[in-house]
Amino acid sequence: MRAKIVAGNWKMNKTVSEGAQLVEELKSGLAKVDASDVTVVVSPTYVSLSEVVKIAAGSLVNVAAQNVHQEANGAYTGEISADMLKSVGVGYVIIGHSENRTTGETDLIINKKIKSSINNGLKIIFCIGETLLQRKKKLTHKILKNQISKGLKGVKKLNKVLFAYEPVWSIGTGIVPKANDLEKNVNFIRNNLSNKFRLKNPKILYGGSVNTKNVKNLKEINIIDGFLIGAASQDPKKFIDIVKKTFN
Ligand code: PGA
Repeated sequence: MRAKIVAGNWKMNKTVSEGAQLVEELKSGLAKVDASDVTVVVSPTYVSLSEVVKIAAGSLVNVAAQNVHQEANGAYTGEISADMLKSVGVGYVIIGHSENRTTGETDLIINKKIKSSINNGLKIIFCIGETLLQRKKKLTHKILKNQISKGLKGVKKLNKVLFAYEPVWSIGTGIVPKANDLEKNVNFIRNNLSNKFRLKNPKILYGGSVNTKNVKNLKEINIIDGFLIGAASQDPKKFIDIVKKTFN
């Protein structure tokens, strides 16, 4: 069993007080779980980050931002830079989520975001994955290879990057890939990272419709290091249940 990381992505959900309450519940729920070798991550919206960081301090819960701007500062209305994230005490940032790729985030922008975040001491959850159409056209490996090589081009300190394989057709649909499909694709990612980037033991999460029911089967796929979870991470009971099932 390799799984060690359970990361939640709240997306555009939870007010500051709702987020604070969720983390309080997570903290007390996780205190009862033997999860000492588990990394639990939550990803609130920007406006909740500092409050959640404060509440999570000293607990098992780590905090990620859901995105970052690629530039350090300047005339970018509404955007947040990596050093701003660092200044509120965030440890991680999700980069390359398909919901952002589909609204114009290119591989080049993703690459700049990764570099800027690493320069500011953040760890990255780098999302990659194929769409349904790409899958049907048997382009999955080509797409993954491309996203990896463009996203990581010139990136140093690759050990700061966690990977989240998220087939776009699995996100929010209730559909998870078959075990052998998932194994094949995660192995492909692993081999690619090893051959092209000399990354010997990268952490690779699976994301897409992970829930309290399917997590037991998914955790049997022992080449996966954990999960990135959207909907089910927004309910503390479900999220704690997933953490328990992942590590028991
Ligand atoms: P989901 O989202 O668990 O709701 O499918 C996963 C994600 O977008 O990372």
